[in-house]
Amino acid sequence: MAIRVLTGIKPTGTPHLGNYVGAIRPAIAASREPGIESYYFLADYHALSGTADAERVHRSTLEIALTWLALGLDPAQVHFYRQSDLPEVTELTWLLSCVTAKGLLNRAHAYKAAVDANVALGNDADHGVGMGLYLYPVLMAADILLFNAHRVPVGRDQVQHIEIARDLAQRFNHLHGGDYFTLPEAAVDEHTAVLPGLDGRKMSKSYDNVIALWGSSKQLREQIYSVVTNSQLPGEPKNPDDSSLFQLYRAFASDDESAALRQAYADGIAWGEAKRIVHARIDAELAAPRERYQTLATRPQDIEQILREGAERLRPKARELLDRLRDAVGLRSLARLATPVASGGKLSKKVKLPRFVQFKEPDGRLNFKFFAADGALLLTGIGYVDAAASAAAMVALRQSRALAVRQTTLYSADTPVGALAAPAEQAEAALAGIRSALAELIAAESC
Ligand code: TRP
Repeated sequence: MAIRVLTGIKPTGTPHLGNYVGAIRPAIAASREPGIESYYFLADYHALSGTADAERVHRSTLEIALTWLALGLDPAQVHFYRQSDLPEVTELTWLLSCVTAKGLLNRAHAYKAAVDANVALGNDADHGVGMGLYLYPVLMAADILLFNAHRVPVGRDQVQHIEIARDLAQRFNHLHGGDYFTLPEAAVDEHTAVLPGLDGRKMSKSYDNVIALWGSSKQLREQIYSVVTNSQLPGEPKNPDDSSLFQLYRAFASDDESAALRQAYADGIAWGEAKRIVHARIDAELAAPRERYQTLATRPQDIEQILREGAERLRPKARELLDRLRDAVGLRSLARLATPVASGGKLSKKVKLPRFVQFKEPDGRLNFKFFAADGALLLTGIGYVDAAASAAAMVALRQSRALAVRQTTLYSADTPVGALAAPAEQAEAALAGIRSALAELIAAESC
């Protein structure tokens, strides 16, 4: 069976040389390996979590699709599609959300970073945080689990998201008793080159030091000529190992070519000449893709069709999984219900559990009663000003580890929480009964 490798590309911004060398080029090379079934998709729903700029999302989706196709991704060999063309992605997102502990998402890096920044500024912790950002990891898990990908190549910053996807897969499998999902593994390539930008720092949009991937040859030349060098003169030997220019070259050149430029540095090549060589080499690699990009860009309707076909090809597979999942969670045809509902028959042999029941006292206060699984009354609350206070008392009771009885009153850490139904001489037995009923309830709710 082929190994399924899946990765999403968020269509934001315009691609630069660092994206090409660090992500796109290795991914396209990997897509040509035998024994691999590759899934590459434009994560346009994800893009929405960071912007409301519709024009930008639209344009960027086209640019990124053009980029991958121009650089040689073959839509006949891989699954190349757009996330929002698969309604099953959002459907799965909801099913997964329902097995996602909120606390798990509270710990996700991007959300936590937003909270930390707010707290540092003295803002409300969730100021400016949308549910798109908060649920981002669940949507990403849906992308991955929808096709039961084995391997997910990502940057280091995304590893936690793959771990969350594993967690959700495991939890769903466990809750619904089946092998619905394969547990995905993150694949972080330790060897991909980190390209320096114009100022020598890592090439990154956030440093505003990028070299555009799709500029003209002339624009590329101008940008390469503005890469920082030192003030050494022609004839002075230069050190390739602390030269951004040399690192740029190495990401494109063969070993022999790199060795030759290394020698030229030792021989005192002028920076202008070195820049000419670096530009020529990078331009040689990009010239043909640049032309393809321009040609493809004149036919956006073809790109649209490629993406739609990519999604259409996958939909039967996605639908099949979703149908199984819907069945697993109980979204089923009613015609399949075996037990007749007529004549007062029970819908299911539901296991009886201990339960809390709220009621209003004659004086208008709210109160609760706690019953054992067999229906026997165990405890009555002490009466509360409103429903919220009564609910809080029930929650406190469930969470309390410090329960004790005196006479017929139950205490939690010395605060009275209710009146036992049992007489004083059976108080200890009644306490044991309450403890075990609470444990039973909590166990039932957590699975
Ligand atoms: N979050 C990823 C990023 O920002 C993009 C992405 C979305 C993705 N869905 C995915 C990556 C699924 C891998 C698998 O780079």
